[in-house]
Amino acid sequence: MTAQQKKRLSAIAAARFSEPMSLHTTLGVGGKAEAFVAVTSIAMLQEVLRFASEESFPYLVIGGGSNLLVRDGGLKGIVISLQGEFTAVDLVRESGGMVSLAAGSAVATATLLRRADDLGLAGFEVMAGVPGTIGGNIRMNAGTRAGSIADVVEEVTIVERSGREVTLTPRALRFEYRSVKLPPGAVIARVVCKLKRAEPGAGRATIRALLEHRRQTQPVATENCGCAFKNPGKLSAGQLIDEAGLKGIRVGGARISTLHANFIINEGTATARDIIVLMNLVRDRVREHAGITLEPEVVIVGGKGE
Ligand code: EPU
Repeated sequence: MTAQQKKRLSAIAAARFSEPMSLHTTLGVGGKAEAFVAVTSIAMLQEVLRFASEESFPYLVIGGGSNLLVRDGGLKGIVISLQGEFTAVDLVRESGGMVSLAAGSAVATATLLRRADDLGLAGFEVMAGVPGTIGGNIRMNAGTRAGSIADVVEEVTIVERSGREVTLTPRALRFEYRSVKLPPGAVIARVVCKLKRAEPGAGRATIRALLEHRRQTQPVATENCGCAFKNPGKLSAGQLIDEAGLKGIRVGGARISTLHANFIINEGTATARDIIVLMNLVRDRVREHAGITLEPEVVIVGGKGE
């Protein structure tokens, strides 16, 4: 990016250049983003997208960075972090015992879970313990064994690459296990969830039990990206990796969790390369052992580095 381009971008949004992506991902690895901008409104987002298109820069929106692996060579173009109006939560309508709760895409899922329960809204408990933001969760159709975000979505507002705002129904989004159909370059701006009227705090016990179960079965306090691989059909990728005898194996600073084998932990010194080499090794060993090829769930982006 030239000095002139940096100046233009900085006039649109608060921008940092050569920003380490290890600071913005829960795995704590990855190279630098050429530009990293804090975008606080839809109007500002539209201006950043216009700039990207005029100057032919690629862009990537990050949510909680909890399912993202940035390679060591870093990211060309612009990383967009949504803040400000993208963190609002509002009740939009209520009828026949159903309540529509709108959340900006940068709202942390854990925050929305608490807000919904405090407001006496049920249905969101299936998301207990899921890291990241609502926008990121939509992008991944994130969830648990109890269900996924798709179960409660009423509509999703996106901003297309052209800057046009469009509201989509779950039908148009064609949710599937850990996937959704979005136009290329679309940015998720706002999500409306359809929840049931209940007593405030009624979901607290369920949420607590789900979080406790997660603490016992997953390495929640470590640097990780949630499950590294998708579950193949009804089988558990974690169980397959475990049965292939891979718990605890290590490449550089990256290790397969001894608690849940579908978690890769950065023990402090891992590089993106360590994690990718470990993932490839896991995929190959599971294929030899069980005849199943695991697909990554974590989104891998960026250049390879040296
Ligand atoms: N298992 C093992 N060894 C392991 C891990 C699991 O034998 O190392 C066995 C368990 O004992 C259990 C079965 O595999 O019998 C399933 O395990 P678990 O209940 O932990 O569920 P999972 O299929 O491994 C899924 C989601 C998780 C989500 C949990 C709990 C995927 C890829 N994984 O894991 O989601 O937290 O259910 O709801 O969909 C994520 O998507 O990032 C994620 C962590």
